[in-house]
Amino acid sequence: AKNMAEEAKKKAAYAAVDNHVQNNQVVGVGSGSTIVYAVDRLAERVRQEKLNIVCVPTSFQLDVAIDGADEVDSDLTLIKGGGGCLTQEKIVAGCAKHFVVIADYRKDSKTLGQQWKKGVPIEVIPMSYIPVSRTIARCFGGEARLRMAVSKAGPVVTDNSNFILDWKFDQAQDWKEVNTAIKMIPGVVETGLFVSMAERAYFGMEDGSV
Ligand code: A5P
Repeated sequence: AKNMAEEAKKKAAYAAVDNHVQNNQVVGVGSGSTIVYAVDRLAERVRQEKLNIVCVPTSFQLDVAIDGADEVDSDLTLIKGGGGCLTQEKIVAGCAKHFVVIADYRKDSKTLGQQWKKGVPIEVIPMSYIPVSRTIARCFGGEARLRMAVSKAGPVVTDNSNFILDWKFDQAQDWKEVNTAIKMIPGVVETGLFVSMAERAYFGMEDGSV
């Protein structure tokens, strides 16, 4: 199953790079295990087709940004941040004229929460995690838990030196509204909800199709 998923990630990544990256573009690149395949393909195309492209992890204006996701619903609303990075990814996606998602078939979902059971990651200023988690539970239900390092040595620290709350919601929500409301809570830096950002998703399927 793991090999199948890896192959599916690769297929999705290759399709996105082949369909969306052209000569003389500036390309935003996110993070995760799926994007690695996109970078491989970009490198291959640069070699083979002598493509002239500039890849940046962040910028003010990008033609196209490609990134993975933890879950994608039928409106192309995403949950991201499963790997701990979300704020910088959202900035990159927000800078791009076109934002394209690549993922294996396990991320494809009708409504959020069907596939990704770990909740919505929310990046918070460390000293705020208790009041923020209480406010989220009170206003939106469910439970928002501080993400701990696998080693149990302490909380996960993000690329911006913050903490992550994983909010396990107990019912579907109006994600646009919830995203805005959570962002208004003092101490919240960013949410892993990407609403109205992705314009297309490529899923590598179990049968080898995309
Ligand atoms: C990192 O925190 C993320 O937002 C990733 O883009 C997302 O978790 C997808 O990662 P995989 O491609 O490893 O599943």
